[in-house]
Amino acid sequence: MKILGIETSCDETACAVVEDGTRILSDVIYSQVDLHAKTGGVVPEVAAREHVLKMIPVLEEAIRDHAPDTIAVTKGPGLVSSLIIGTTTASVFSMVQRLPIIPVNHIEAHIYGNWLGRENDLPEFPILILTVSGGHNELYLMRGHGDLEIVGETRDDAAGEAFDKVARLLELGYPGGPAIAKAAINGDLKKYDFPRSYLEKGSLDFSFSGLKTSVLDLVKKQDGLTPEFVNDCAASFQEAVCEVLSDKVLTAIAKYNPKEVHLAGGVSANLRLREMMEEKIGGRAIFRYPKELSYCTDNAAMVAACGYYSYSKEKHKASNVTPVANF
Ligand code: KG4
Ligand code: ZN
Repeated sequence: MKILGIETSCDETACAVVEDGTRILSDVIYSQVDLHAKTGGVVPEVAAREHVLKMIPVLEEAIRDHAPDTIAVTKGPGLVSSLIIGTTTASVFSMVQRLPIIPVNHIEAHIYGNWLGRENDLPEFPILILTVSGGHNELYLMRGHGDLEIVGETRDDAAGEAFDKVARLLELGYPGGPAIAKAAINGDLKKYDFPRSYLEKGSLDFSFSGLKTSVLDLVKKQDGLTPEFVNDCAASFQEAVCEVLSDKVLTAIAKYNPKEVHLAGGVSANLRLREMMEEKIGGRAIFRYPKELSYCTDNAAMVAACGYYSYSKEKHKASNVTPVANF
């Protein structure tokens, strides 16, 4: 089955056609990142206007050589004014082509980034998933398709949000994650001993606001931001975030004994996080992150993959998949 995925939840206008939930036939992403770099973050009205301009050209390119059988579209969470461009496009396309629509949850879609390109090596359940993006930071236990349990979540900032905020403090620009990772390469990760928040004993929840405040206090004490300070601060901050994330995963492995551990969402692009997780997990579980860097951040292929697995499941249950979805 060929599914057209449509993603417009934040600042990427994306369409992709994916076969049977894993094989990418087309994958088109228009990123607004350069536009939002000027304002140091996403301005919703600006993002929505850009989606309106790019939606149809991106859709046309994605379906040029691959006619879909079904449509999957991100219904949320995300910026409402951006989401509506994708869901409206999906509704109109569905009416014209008489195709069913599957509404998809954005975070669940990120989880399916780990299915892309893995048709010969499908993940096996139960899977422990750390979703780390700009707006979300959760630990899920996935026992099967559509069987997800949140076992831990952030009590304040998401990891990606912390990266973005600290990057702003260090005047590294937007988006913060890749900028911090780049600066950290030349920094001393032991230079600043930032606090690691583990919350109550055994807790699988996260908290990054104390760490962010600690960076702010340090920045305020500086007499200007030297490149050496910025690099050391970025490296020490990144180390603190990665350590907490990977330690929480270890606690969850001991509790749930999963067959696999997956990283998903924008921060899964972080090489230090991957390296540290790999090291700490060792042989306890199969460790995976999305096969390509572009499957970590927002894209439509993951939406199509998620749609495929929920369609199979929903059809099986004689479900709520309707010709025109009720968003
Ligand atoms: O999944 P995503 O594209 O959008 C949301 O659903 O939020 O994630 C974007 C987040 C941003 O906070 C960005 O700074 C972060 O992912 N990010 C990274 C890296 N690449 C993107 N964080 C750390 N290291 C990276 N290499
Ligand atoms: Zn996302």
